[in-house]
Amino acid sequence: MGELPAVRVVGQPAARSVPASSAAAGGNQVQSVGVSPALPGGTGGQARTVPTLSRAGGRAEARAQQARVAPARASCIFPGARALDVCLAPLAAGEGFRLGFLGDPGSGKSFAARIVAREYLRRCRGLVAVANSKGESGWSGEKYTDVAALRDAPPKGRELVFTPPPTGSLDVAEVALWQWQLATAHRCRSLVVWDELGDAAVDGEWLDGGGGERGVSIIGRCFTHGRRLGMSELWGAQFAHQVPREAYETTSCLCVWRQAGNALRILRLRGYTDVTAEAAILALPGDDVPPAKRGAFVLLRRGRPWDGHLYRF
Ligand SMILES: Nc1ncnc2c1ncn2[C@@H]1O[C@H](COP(=O)(O)OP(=O)(O)O)[C@@H](O)[C@H]1O
Ligand SMILES: [Mg+2]
Repeated sequence: MGELPAVRVVGQPAARSVPASSAAAGGNQVQSVGVSPALPGGTGGQARTVPTLSRAGGRAEARAQQARVAPARASCIFPGARALDVCLAPLAAGEGFRLGFLGDPGSGKSFAARIVAREYLRRCRGLVAVANSKGESGWSGEKYTDVAALRDAPPKGRELVFTPPPTGSLDVAEVALWQWQLATAHRCRSLVVWDELGDAAVDGEWLDGGGGERGVSIIGRCFTHGRRLGMSELWGAQFAHQVPREAYETTSCLCVWRQAGNALRILRLRGYTDVTAEAAILALPGDDVPPAKRGAFVLLRRGRPWDGHLYRF
């Protein structure tokens, strides 16, 4: 475990490193490389049954199954654009999407988020705003330190980047309020890229409240009430436990780069994974390989079986 199995990119000639068994399985055609054990009648070879997880023996069996099944099955890498078609589908119906990116630091979330932002601009006439709370470079768009600065210099294009000043932090609630008002007062669609949603929350609770005396969180409200108003949310996070529940429960598509341990437990709890998906996530490359070789991820859909594919942009 820990290493990505020999892979090839679907639609391109088979790589020389592909084991004979995978190469024989399907030439250059798109193929399903793994069938969730939750699905009856899967075409895969071994282990078609769902392991019992309710007792200690079940957990041991699940771990053993992870070790022997999924890496062997996830032997193709599909173009990331294919996953995007699924994730951005709500735009075609005039709705906003909620898309989550979860993965270890350096695994490829921001790289992919830039691609999503570009694709959003191509498919939709709305604005893209990046809540760049970590202050990273590499985002394209007009730069602002806060929402107030927009009044003095309204954007000329459709891409904005909110980056905190070097010694300060970004007021993420202000960004959410801006998006909300854009939709409700100006009927303007937008995508906010929350590059690190952990900066908008503390241990799974929104920073700007979320009930009780402090009132309702405006960030949470964008997630729960904004879809039909054309508000799209793309959130990235390194730590699964920092992501508030509303974000999980409103996010239909979750792209996961390498994760281990507690994160996998949370993903299972929130209804995104089964044992084969978990094994594939564990085997993805993270910062243990050079940057140019990173970027493989799985696409999980809440309450649905894993499609058995790896993707990469
Ligand atoms: N699909 C990919 N193709 C090429 N390089 C990638 C890919 N995904 C990630 N990288 C590289 O890996 C490094 C870390 O990616 P980044 O998106 O910043 O990680 P994260 O946001 O998860 O911390 C960057 O140098 C990036 O260019
Ligand atoms: Mg990043």
